[in-house]
Amino acid sequence: MSRYDDVKHLMKGRTISRIVYDAPTIAARVHELGMEIGRAYPDGDLLVLGLLKGSFIFLSDLVRQIPRPLQVDFLVASSYGNETVSSGLVRLVYDPETVLEGKHILLVEDIIDSGRTLNRLIEILSTRRPRSLEICALLHKRLAPDLVRDARFLGFDAPHEFLVGYGLDHAEDFRSLPFVASLAD
Ligand code: IMP
Ligand code: MG
Repeated sequence: MSRYDDVKHLMKGRTISRIVYDAPTIAARVHELGMEIGRAYPDGDLLVLGLLKGSFIFLSDLVRQIPRPLQVDFLVASSYGNETVSSGLVRLVYDPETVLEGKHILLVEDIIDSGRTLNRLIEILSTRRPRSLEICALLHKRLAPDLVRDARFLGFDAPHEFLVGYGLDHAEDFRSLPFVASLAD
């Protein structure tokens, strides 16, 4: 299922304007990222922390391309309140059970947009005294003016369009599309 015609029946009547990253393109980039991550952590315990829900497909493909031992856990962050208030409104509704202290933590995110969620998560996770704390994002819209920490590992610079598929949703739909597409208005 890599062509739009093959997945039309999943679209609930919506259409996409174009496929931005097709499945083979994503797979090739995820393989390169996995190798890069493997080289970046020659020693120590590596904990790959996926930010749910958007990262679940990316993370599951990515960890299978990282050629070194690692552990996996997840975070669920919840945003609150008024969009015009920009700080402090993210809390963890699921917190990893594993101890973070002394481990290399690789936080995996689907897409960096305003960067608000990541900024707050970096603050929260830093207090757990990890050995290192880095971000791996599949997509980056390069819209965030003041990221506390930028992604060390990045799949693609994304266009400024609303993207769905490969884990990314619109109102919880379209996560299972095997590619990343731009949703038509
Ligand atoms: P940020 O805090 O503004 O960086 O928001 C990041 C989160 O917003 C991502 O983890 C996604 O869940 C969601 N998001 C941002 N842009 C898109 C998009 O184009 N498509 C789907 N979800 C998006
Ligand atoms: Mg979302």
